[in-house]
Amino acid sequence: MSAIKKSKLLSLKHFPKRGLVGSFSSCCKPSVFGHVEQGPADPIFGVAEAFKADKNPKKVMLGVGAYRSDDGKPYVLPCVRKAEEIVYKKCGNHEYLPIAGMPEFNKVAVELALGKDSCILKEGLNMTVQSLSGTGAIRLGAAFLGMFYKGNKEAYISNPTWGNHRNVFLHSGIPWKYYTYYDPKTIGLDFKGMSENLCCIPDESIVVFHAVSHNPTGVDPTPEQWKAFSQICMQKKHFPFFDMAYQGFASGDPERDAKAVRMFIDDGHQVAVAQSFAKNMGLYGERIGAFTFTCRSKEEVAKVLSQMKIVIRAMYSNPPTFGARLITEILGNPELKCLWLQDVKCLADRIMSCRQKLVEALKKEGSKKDWSHITNQIGMFSFTGLKPEEVKKIIKEFAVYMTADGRISIASLGSPNIDYVAKAMHAVTK
Ligand code: LMR
Repeated sequence: MSAIKKSKLLSLKHFPKRGLVGSFSSCCKPSVFGHVEQGPADPIFGVAEAFKADKNPKKVMLGVGAYRSDDGKPYVLPCVRKAEEIVYKKCGNHEYLPIAGMPEFNKVAVELALGKDSCILKEGLNMTVQSLSGTGAIRLGAAFLGMFYKGNKEAYISNPTWGNHRNVFLHSGIPWKYYTYYDPKTIGLDFKGMSENLCCIPDESIVVFHAVSHNPTGVDPTPEQWKAFSQICMQKKHFPFFDMAYQGFASGDPERDAKAVRMFIDDGHQVAVAQSFAKNMGLYGERIGAFTFTCRSKEEVAKVLSQMKIVIRAMYSNPPTFGARLITEILGNPELKCLWLQDVKCLADRIMSCRQKLVEALKKEGSKKDWSHITNQIGMFSFTGLKPEEVKKIIKEFAVYMTADGRISIASLGSPNIDYVAKAMHAVTK
């Protein structure tokens, strides 16, 4: 038998009787994926899926942190619209960016985080790369630490924390553990518990801090408390890893929102900073962020960058251009930067006024509960204090969607829904 005939016979033998056009589901060979079990829905985007499927016309989505205008619509910042025009006029090409991203973008991004006068920047001691928004930035940092960190290779994350931190560190080969953060009794920071935890975890651990606007609680340490954590980290030689997703978005002032990161650097720490431009520029879908390690010498920067490029190349090769172009225009052009500062202040102010309005509406509904934590918290979210069964009830009976821990995106409240949300919150908590 010729070689061709033999191979034809072999291949036909492996198909069901109906032959090559038969359906794949009827194939008798067991699937290589047969053992795969259903995974849990994402704690944040899973809420969005459930919301989408709900037919209730009154439904309200407070689950995912995405800013909405007062009438509930997605909002494009005026400075972004202007930058879009400039970028389109420049008629750029669609070539690959370098593996580490657009150099001009990396420069303006890290300047925003560390400050133009930062000694680190003046001395060229930053290793900064473009990333796929904040998640991508954390992922790069974690992957690098997973390969090269010589200290205790465990990430300590706050309890509670953003629903994706655990995932990102785990998938980077770094096990995570909690440190105490939030005190449900005071609905505030458990300063004593957190200090004690940071003191008793193994030396040289990776400690993940939310640089500003803690997600999900909206509870931030005071400058004095930050100072104390910086000192503990120095004594214990912990490695501070800052997740900075809300610079400018929290207080309306990007300089103020960067204080914790800059304090740690001034205190002599080497740090990681994961920046996102999703919230403060409203560029959620553009997936634009930056990741920085501070280093001790320029030679070290070069070596760390060389390894980080290998990490990036293996993950996604090189980053996308559009968001980087927009942000380079905005932060690199004094006029547009000024407009952005106004825009971001407007976002922060509207969120603060929504907090106020929600508390007033709850009072109007007749709620006797103390809701002052809603106005005391900062940033995109409020940790309402709703218990898991109250969350289930508010979703089932009122179609007001939030994450299972009772977090609501204040930035999604507005005139059309604020009274309804207050009514629902009162109904499930009275
Ligand atoms: C959130 O916390 O809702 C946002 O940061 C969106 C996300 O990626 O989880």
